[in-house]
Amino acid sequence: MEKKASSLFKLAVLASGNGTNLQAIIDAINNQVLNHVEIELVISNKKDAYALTRAIQNGITSMFIDKNEWNTLLQTFNAHNIDLIVLAGYLPILKKEIVEKYKNQIINIHPSLLPSFGGKCFYGDKVHEAVLDSGVETTGATVHFVDSGIDTGDIFMQKPVTVLKSDTVRTLKQRVQKAEHEVLVESIKLLAEI
Ligand code: GRF
Repeated sequence: MEKKASSLFKLAVLASGNGTNLQAIIDAINNQVLNHVEIELVISNKKDAYALTRAIQNGITSMFIDKNEWNTLLQTFNAHNIDLIVLAGYLPILKKEIVEKYKNQIINIHPSLLPSFGGKCFYGDKVHEAVLDSGVETTGATVHFVDSGIDTGDIFMQKPVTVLKSDTVRTLKQRVQKAEHEVLVESIKLLAEI
């Protein structure tokens, strides 16, 4: 990854929903946990994604780009000199042209310890349901680079979470979310320093 000496490390954060991971990045920048990092853009494929509201509330440029408008997406990244694309709960699969152009510059956050509980069927609460059904004692959060598969790119960082006998989807999800926020911020910090 090429990094300019004194300039800010520019993120484009892509989100389809609530945006708690986006919020964790915003908070980390505001609290100076992440230094020399800025969110240049927040992009959603959903017009009503709360992530867009969070961006507006924090004075960050936000835009809706339809998932089929992949060329607009690519041109937007190029025009803004984006250093790192962060998929923070972004549901569409990125087109191969984008994945190839931004190889090793796109990360995704996933709510399990990949390669376990990853792939097409594992999203949202389904991940935690499957974890509880399987009886594993540890789950967690994974940040991985994005390749052309689903949840298959090289793993960058993981944070384990112990599964308790008393856990429900709701309680497990809460702890995994906390781990996601931590591992995502730590990953961005490391990548910005490389
Ligand atoms: C997170 O669990 C993330 O791992 C998954 O989608 C969820 C997004 O949550 N890819 P939020 O919108 O950041 O709250």
